[in-house]
Amino acid sequence: MAPKRIAIVGATGAVGMELLKVLEQRNFPMKTLSLFASARSKGKKLNCKGENIAVQELTASSFKGIDTAFFCAGASVSRQFAPIAVKNDCVVIDKSSAFRMNKDVPLVVPEVNPHAIALHKGIIASPNCSTIQMVVALKPLHDYSRIKRLIATTFQSVSGAGARAIEEMKSETLAILAGKPFNRSIFKHQIAFNAIPQIDVFGEDAYTGEETKMSEETKKIMEDDAMKISATCVRIPVFRSHSESINVEFEKELTAEKARKLFAKAPGIELQDDVSRQIYPLATIAANKDLVYVGRLRRDNTVKYGLAMWVVSDNVRKGAALNAVQILENLKI
Ligand SMILES: NC(=O)c1ccc[n+]([C@@H]2O[C@H](COP(=O)([O-])OP(=O)(O)OC[C@H]3O[C@@H](n4cnc5c(N)ncnc54)[C@H](OP(=O)(O)O)[C@@H]3O)[C@@H](O)[C@H]2O)c1
Repeated sequence: MAPKRIAIVGATGAVGMELLKVLEQRNFPMKTLSLFASARSKGKKLNCKGENIAVQELTASSFKGIDTAFFCAGASVSRQFAPIAVKNDCVVIDKSSAFRMNKDVPLVVPEVNPHAIALHKGIIASPNCSTIQMVVALKPLHDYSRIKRLIATTFQSVSGAGARAIEEMKSETLAILAGKPFNRSIFKHQIAFNAIPQIDVFGEDAYTGEETKMSEETKKIMEDDAMKISATCVRIPVFRSHSESINVEFEKELTAEKARKLFAKAPGIELQDDVSRQIYPLATIAANKDLVYVGRLRRDNTVKYGLAMWVVSDNVRKGAALNAVQILENLKI
């Protein structure tokens, strides 16, 4: 791939900082790297490949001479600035939810639907973190035996809510242990030593935005509108990696043994499944790694053809930064 002129919008955030790491670790060919954030971060220096780069304030003229921009500054920034970037012939890889369900915008996980990348008209969306790891795990199974219905319960880390959420959990934990009062600003409820069954706001159907994203995005990525999905998303006091309990009902028989063989050949997956030795995926082990880990694989006896499994991956890495870089690596420009 010819070296590119790259920009990161939201470079100072949890995903932006991880993008810098992923670009460096993969030795991604770059002609230039421009970093943008809000006025608050103007002049702050961030390091990539041994070079200190000053963060600039994002403006409408930020995209002149940029080939590809990673957007990781939230949906409202994407809605305002991504169309401006596209007008400047810059390809946008958007981490926010702004365009994911737009029919002209491909929603891509390279292990699952890389063919969709070529359909882009300037913007390519990267899915929600909890969706990405689920579809990587489900794709090889769905290709063998169509998924009719699935129930997912997630246990999501605080880094999924951004850099300030990580700090809030740290400070709140220390305050509680020291018996001191704590004023929270990110989470509605205490996150330390707790489990909050709400991520994003509730819709009229009593599902949260995160739960609806898992359902709608999965159908779009897997190109199967008939799939029935119900998700419950829970925030837990873990710094990194989302864990998911998934029960799947298939159209025809798919044994746990066959699923193991399918996972062994599938891209981006590592099976960690030996209950006799208490081996299964853990958030601490998945943290800072690229793969999606699958374990606790077993028959779900409540339906004719069913499997239950436990799926863990680093939400900031495969769930965001790495997936975005893989999209660019698969983009033929
Ligand atoms: N965290 C995850 O695991 C994850 C996974 C998948 C998708 N995402 C999505 O990725 C995006 C970023 O998430 P994050 O977790 O990295 O959030 P974050 O840690 O809160 O970072 C937000 C970034 O956006 C910048 N920003 C905020 N307002 C801006 C503005 N008006 N103009 C320019 N830059 C602005 C911030 O800059 P300042 O530092 O200057 O405020 C910061 O760099 C969100 O859309 C999120 O939904 C996150």
